[in-house]
Amino acid sequence: MSRIGLAFEAGLAKPSEKTVVLHPDVNFDVTNLSNVLIVEPFFSSNVTWQNKGYSCEVSLPSKPFELAIVCCTRSRQQTADLIAQASAQADLVVVDGQKVDGIEAHYKSLRKLVKIEGNVTKAHGRLFWFSSTDLSNLRATPQSFNDFITIAGVFSANAVDQGSELLAAALPENLRGDVADFGAGWGFLSSRIAKHQSVTSLDLIEADAIALEYAKLNIKDPRANFHWDDATAWNGSYDSVIMNPPFHKGRLGNPDLGRAFITNAARCLRHKGDLWMVANRHLPYEHVLNQCFENVSEILGNSQFKLFHSSRPKRK
Ligand SMILES: C[S@@+](CC[C@H](N)C(=O)[O-])C[C@H]1O[C@@H](n2cnc3c(N)ncnc32)[C@H](O)[C@@H]1O
Repeated sequence: MSRIGLAFEAGLAKPSEKTVVLHPDVNFDVTNLSNVLIVEPFFSSNVTWQNKGYSCEVSLPSKPFELAIVCCTRSRQQTADLIAQASAQADLVVVDGQKVDGIEAHYKSLRKLVKIEGNVTKAHGRLFWFSSTDLSNLRATPQSFNDFITIAGVFSANAVDQGSELLAAALPENLRGDVADFGAGWGFLSSRIAKHQSVTSLDLIEADAIALEYAKLNIKDPRANFHWDDATAWNGSYDSVIMNPPFHKGRLGNPDLGRAFITNAARCLRHKGDLWMVANRHLPYEHVLNQCFENVSEILGNSQFKLFHSSRPKRK
């Protein structure tokens, strides 16, 4: 039985009115809940919940709920922010998570702020609940550096990623035409692409709706178009694709994700198109690059990152 199932057996009142579940894994057990709204900013997970028939939003709408369930994310600050938001809008707040996602730290710090009404532990995780109270001091505040603005929970929230910095510096002077940034995050690479005056359009494709909102704040350029979507399935036609692809799915390293980015970039590039990408040195992308492009060369790079320029996508 799931932790939430155990919690109902242990005395957590079953909600009869609206419940909101924030950032749930796609397998989260919602069977005992009625009138459920899912808040999920990540594109593919949001679509999965929609396909299961649930109402979905990317952020918490400002209306009251009887129960809010906050699922721990990998960012401690982001989870604390979600707990504060939930506590402002729901009568009862449940927090659920795995030890690896820091649930014990949240339990410990919240015990000092609220009266915990019940908790269950199971499967390397914990779930606890409390009646809502003002936790607004746990809200995350946007942070700024180098003229950029970001928020906890997005990729590289505290600094420009070193690999992206290296790739931006290696982009050719004559970058031109229609360009896409696959997995654009909060917009660092795109901000550097936009400095090239011969770029005529710039598509930012990003799955995390929160990161994309910050990209919109960081890039005020009429050539930029912002797409909340899956870069591995995106359809477009470009002169160049530029990317620092993700290599994790949740906690697990997954080079297949980067490979899927490469395959789709090749499909979206025009006959003479170029792919510019950076990857951590240990990631095995050479084979798929050679499968997808006539020319593949490793350029610059350092001991931690490798940079690739690939051109002339192969047409199968
Ligand atoms: C390594 S980060 C690079 C972010 C940004 N380009 C930079 O350089 O700072 C990869 C980004 O890809 C996004 N991402 C992960 N899976 C995605 C997918 N299937 N489609 C689009 N974006 C995705 C992540 O949310 C993350 O922002």
